[in-house]
Amino acid sequence: VIVGHVIGLLVPEAWTRALGVSDTLYHVTALSLGLVAGVCTLAGVALLVWRRRTTGPVFSATTANDKAMYLVLVLAILTGLGMTVYFAGVEVAGGHAQDYRTTVSPWFRSIWILNPDIAAMAAAELPYRVHALMGLALFVLLPFTRLVHMFSAPVGYLFRPYVLYRTRDVHAGGAGQAERAGRRGW
Ligand code: HEM
Repeated sequence: VIVGHVIGLLVPEAWTRALGVSDTLYHVTALSLGLVAGVCTLAGVALLVWRRRTTGPVFSATTANDKAMYLVLVLAILTGLGMTVYFAGVEVAGGHAQDYRTTVSPWFRSIWILNPDIAAMAAAELPYRVHALMGLALFVLLPFTRLVHMFSAPVGYLFRPYVLYRTRDVHAGGAGQAERAGRRGW
């Protein structure tokens, strides 16, 4: 999904045309790959929510903040996927879906050069605008949720030394012995 967005939003139509990729080829590829990627993402988030609900300690550690994040994340995915399915349906039925590469994409690029092209986004059809709003809402929430882990993966865990647990009770002669004697550690 990320790769699809980078290509769809950052690469202008003129560039893909210059590379010899026709608009039809671009859209058929984008829609089919986008559909697969979107369904996989939805399945991934469903698995994570299921684990969070059914694994006791994970469920206990779940906050209202997590739930709000999941809601916005799922809405962003569902609006994106719904839009892709809907516009693919329009094309298959012989209609003509609006080209987001002439509306949403110029708006997205204009933000990064600090010259927002509001007219470009205003010309986009409502589903695009709702989806972009969901995406932006997720970006706003991101630093205050578990999603920050995408920037701060605990890679150091793989290389840190083992944690050694020792009893504080000097008479027990160590946790191992206490266990063998059938004594309760505490
Ligand atoms: C400002 C931010 C965003 C913009 C401008 C944007 C724009 C778009 C556009 C133009 C499409 C293509 C629709 C079509 O094929 O007709 C799309 C699809 C999609 N978007 Fe976004 N999006 C944004 C953020 C997000 C975020 C944060 C997520 C999820 C976490 C997301 C998930 C999806 C999904 C699942 C699809 C379906 C196609 C695919 O799998 O790539 N989008 N988005």
